[in-house]
Amino acid sequence: MGKIDHPLSAELTEPVTIGDEAYLSKAYAEAEREKLWRKVWQVACRVEEVAEVGDYVVYDILGDTILVTRNADGELSAFYNVCSHRGKKLAKGCGRAMQFRCSYHAWRYNLKGENIFVLDKEDWRGTLPQERLDLPPVKVDTWGGWVWINMDPDSVSLQEYLDPAAAMLDPFELDKMRYRWRKWCYVPANWKVALEAFLEGYHVEGTHPQLLKFQTFAAWSKAQGIHSNSGYGAARGVASAKEMDKAFGNTLMRPGIGADPRMSIWELQDEVWRTTDGTSTQVFVDAARRLVDELPEGTPAGEVVAHWMASAKRDDAARGVIWPEVDPAHVAACGSSWHLFPNVNVIQGLNNAMYYRARPHGTDPNQCIFEVITLERYPEGQEPKTEWEFVDLFAQRDEWPPVLLQDFDNMVDVQLGLQSAGFRGAVPSPSQERKIAAFHRTLASYMGEGKPQPIGPA
Ligand code: FES
Repeated sequence: MGKIDHPLSAELTEPVTIGDEAYLSKAYAEAEREKLWRKVWQVACRVEEVAEVGDYVVYDILGDTILVTRNADGELSAFYNVCSHRGKKLAKGCGRAMQFRCSYHAWRYNLKGENIFVLDKEDWRGTLPQERLDLPPVKVDTWGGWVWINMDPDSVSLQEYLDPAAAMLDPFELDKMRYRWRKWCYVPANWKVALEAFLEGYHVEGTHPQLLKFQTFAAWSKAQGIHSNSGYGAARGVASAKEMDKAFGNTLMRPGIGADPRMSIWELQDEVWRTTDGTSTQVFVDAARRLVDELPEGTPAGEVVAHWMASAKRDDAARGVIWPEVDPAHVAACGSSWHLFPNVNVIQGLNNAMYYRARPHGTDPNQCIFEVITLERYPEGQEPKTEWEFVDLFAQRDEWPPVLLQDFDNMVDVQLGLQSAGFRGAVPSPSQERKIAAFHRTLASYMGEGKPQPIGPA
């Protein structure tokens, strides 16, 4: 079955069909290494993980291994994590070190990847110049509190690559947020299948029916250059949703269904907080709980939301967390989440965010590494210390938030369904799932030419 069957210049308003090659083909998965992963900017880690001189993080992607460090000048360095001698992988995981010593023949490298020691160097009789000994550099930059790497020395700048996503998300000050928790697992599904489980809101009615008693989830979706965003609208007629969209643009900041918005806000917040362990904060939840005591019965929904937001903002300010001032119209235009091509989807908020990162696991198209991360703004000095936690999708199922389990189940079963002779290609909604079509359009441009083609806004 072929690739997506629309031209790159299309505005993505027409229905499209996406074939199974990108999800199932072993040859396609192997080709992604050269044509995709070695060409794109990708998130290696958060800046907070490499804050101090000597901090390092190893980022592995489909056979390539990259070492990100905070070097002795206090700058970020990135280079291939492969010893220049006979190719041993130098470092694993993360930690703090002032130099890297290969545990095979004891060659050593500084935090910039420069070789500083070769045992019995005279054996080579001067045939190893310094540049042959140093570890090859990888481009590195930061945006949004993430460290981004790019293996292509001829790539565009990170700022250009992220356009227009970076400019639109800058007001949310994601760079000032810190990890709250971060978990990962292996999923028996292609990395694109896994990520796509979160790229659209169209799935809520089918996948998360328990949420329908609190809110409707009619979604919109839009290509933004090589990236895309989505949000929730009022298409299914919640009486006050239109007004709330205009003011707040984020489903979780809307009043929910119910005659008494004081209660429906609290019920929605309580449900989301308990079942996702993210996309909100304790401050928001506590402020929602107080609404019924602080406001008289019959207060209009818009006033209830305004009161709730104001009291959460005030409570945060009292503990030293100052929200960014963002024009409500801009909040609405940003929607609730962004797909940053190729493999990150961010649910952004004013004092918190949640994001997902999917990566291939080897070249098996039916396996991936999937990570779930929550971020929050904290008073300075009160950021929690967190570490990556492996939580097996099957053996430790109860340790994943229940809403995420519903999404994980979709990934597993979609990957199985794709392999059936009965699969005739995916037909994402040209309205509510446009991020899926946008994803495959950009992907096809990389896989076809090895470089992205010009893509107009949808
Ligand atoms: Fe690293 Fe020999 S492979 S020193």
